[in-house]
Amino acid sequence: MTLANQVVGRSIDRVDGPVKVTGAATYTMDVTAEGLLHAALVRSTFAVGTITSIDTAEASAAPGVVAVFTHENAPRMKKPSWSLVTPPPPVPFQDASVHHFGQYVAMVVADTPERATEAAALVRVDHEVAGATLSLDAPGVKGRSNPYFLDAKRGNVESGLAAADVTIDATFNTAANVHNPIGLFSTVAHWDGGRLIVHDATQNPFLVRDSLAKVFSIPQDRVQVLAPYVGGSFGAGLRLWQHVILTAMAARIVGRPVKTVLTRPQMFTGLGYRPATIQRIRIGARRDGTLTAIDHEVTSPAAKVANVLYPVTLGTPAAYRCDNVRGRDRQVRLDIPSPAHMRGPGEAEGNFALETAVDEIAHAIGMDPVELRMRNYAEVHPQTGLAWSSKALAECYRQGAERFGWAGRTPEPRSMRDGEWLVGYGMAGVSYGHFQAKCQASLTVHGDGTVLVRSGATDIGQGTYTVITQVAAEGMGLDLAKVRFELGDTDLPRAPQAGGSGLANALSNAVHDATVNAVKALLALAGEDHASPLHGCSRSDVVVDDGHLHHKDDASRGESYVAILARGGRSELTVSGSSAPSRAVNGALIGSAAVSRLGRPGRKLVEATRAVTPAGGFAAHFVEVRVDPHLGRLRVRRVVSAVDAGRVLNPKLARSQIIGGVIGGIGQTLLEEMTTDSGSGRVSNATFGDYLIPVNADIPDLDVVFVGGPDADNTVGVKGVGEIGLAGMAAAIGNAVHHATGKRLRSLPITIADLMD
Ligand code: MOS
Repeated sequence: MTLANQVVGRSIDRVDGPVKVTGAATYTMDVTAEGLLHAALVRSTFAVGTITSIDTAEASAAPGVVAVFTHENAPRMKKPSWSLVTPPPPVPFQDASVHHFGQYVAMVVADTPERATEAAALVRVDHEVAGATLSLDAPGVKGRSNPYFLDAKRGNVESGLAAADVTIDATFNTAANVHNPIGLFSTVAHWDGGRLIVHDATQNPFLVRDSLAKVFSIPQDRVQVLAPYVGGSFGAGLRLWQHVILTAMAARIVGRPVKTVLTRPQMFTGLGYRPATIQRIRIGARRDGTLTAIDHEVTSPAAKVANVLYPVTLGTPAAYRCDNVRGRDRQVRLDIPSPAHMRGPGEAEGNFALETAVDEIAHAIGMDPVELRMRNYAEVHPQTGLAWSSKALAECYRQGAERFGWAGRTPEPRSMRDGEWLVGYGMAGVSYGHFQAKCQASLTVHGDGTVLVRSGATDIGQGTYTVITQVAAEGMGLDLAKVRFELGDTDLPRAPQAGGSGLANALSNAVHDATVNAVKALLALAGEDHASPLHGCSRSDVVVDDGHLHHKDDASRGESYVAILARGGRSELTVSGSSAPSRAVNGALIGSAAVSRLGRPGRKLVEATRAVTPAGGFAAHFVEVRVDPHLGRLRVRRVVSAVDAGRVLNPKLARSQIIGGVIGGIGQTLLEEMTTDSGSGRVSNATFGDYLIPVNADIPDLDVVFVGGPDADNTVGVKGVGEIGLAGMAAAIGNAVHHATGKRLRSLPITIADLMD
């Protein structure tokens, strides 16, 4: 079978664009229902302690209030299932203890959001506060080494360092960052008979469904989760959060639909965030540029009452050919809201330290940073010796450098100027492990020749609606206008999270499989009839084109889908498609049953990862900065990102993904820092006025080039683009700042004070 009309790989505009710009797309916040009530949440104002009494009388008597819930009247609920990658939050309102600032302590349900909010302010909470441990470097904090069993080692780091001509030993700090999607997270829940229907902002509807079924002790098929549109997420929606449980609980008790919309400050404490890290790198090289040792040690936090899998050094052993490498993670339990995964989790922080240290080595031995990276290029996966599924990082370096004009860089720091501005060129590379999770889809060919494809995935803005429509249209030989793709509903076939840069891979392969099955089924249907021009044709004899199947050597010998269905007396034909976890490294991490329960998940994980194909996306970012040494002003002037993402389904949308990531990286490097009051644990900058993110004026021309070709590890040939735009940016900018100023900055975000001469 060959495919006649090529739509995959074209820069199609978003198919969901019109409904979004006209306001017709229904985000959870837009969902309404008859009898809808509105909830407002009350949060703790301290980090650790006990609620001694909670007085809801005044709130309960306020106008419009239907119910007030606290730990005193909430039902006992079951813990959702444990999973290593998306561990559940503690079930809310089960006792009087408070474990972090911002923990929900009461929920007010009223007839309008305003009345709920007003009444929430009337809930009186008396408490006893205990001492809290809030920061990684607090005296006496204890850490657990190798908390995920993912620490990796090869060779001997100490002898590698001893054999080096040049060594660097440096400490790096990265700040906590908050996802802050524009769309406030919201949940609407109602119970219809014994069935729970939940509209939610989530990246993983099936996780929410399965978890809620567990919490309320009902079968999974009695819960439906809907998320057709999500207003951004960046990892915030990878887990089940407490407000979702509370909304469903409230709806069940009051017997009416309930909507909760988090406030912006609640978005800082209720949905996880990128944790701060402290990192130490020891790295050595010979004069010829050969890296002799890399030792990467990281401390990052978890909440005391919620797990988080957060290996920051995971990418380090895969980055370079170096013989002696050690990655060591350490996790500290703090009295903080749970950190979670945020775009490029772990890699965005770990890469900053590693790629800065590599730049320091290049500078110390007087070698060009690109040349040093090529000198240590990992042609095979260096930790296992296995071939990569595909890797065009060298091409990223080459094409990125060329487009950027890297050859015009004069190596000496402070050697390039533009008037008063110091000019710096910097770069960094990134290797981003990707995985493919299990995914299912269905495909229906209607009697009128149109096609409906369905899978319960989510499109959080990355373009899934569009690229999957393209894959289906190409597989069926149809115009895009004849194909519709529905997602965001757990009554549809099961799909994995939109996360880990892995959905396009899993879903496009499942939908491709469905198109193959649909053509087979149509051919079989045609073949049943001796009068059909396709009678006797096998699959390899035919092509799909413009809603027809015809013989590849004789276009006149064929039939349209419409005619095939009519002849077969069928009003429609439905097939399913699926994709299985590929052998890619991180597939084990997400897909394996080994990680679905506490126990020895990590060890099994490590065993599983030994037998698989190393796969991932790669990128090189090249950055020009300008620094005003008198005022400490720093501007990113241009960025060139060269990206190996395998087969690019839609260059326009893939570019959007990368530039979104690059902007996130600029934010991480120059602006973003969640700050915490050292006494109360209060997040002290939980608004968009105080927590800085890049605005248009901070963003220069961003140039993206895709290199490489289809990946060998999956049929469609895609790799992820969600996170490699962000990871790598911090080091690239920091290295450019060093080139501009001679200052080596190892702490994020870079501040004006860091840059003043
Ligand atoms: Mo991403 S942190 O997997 O949404």
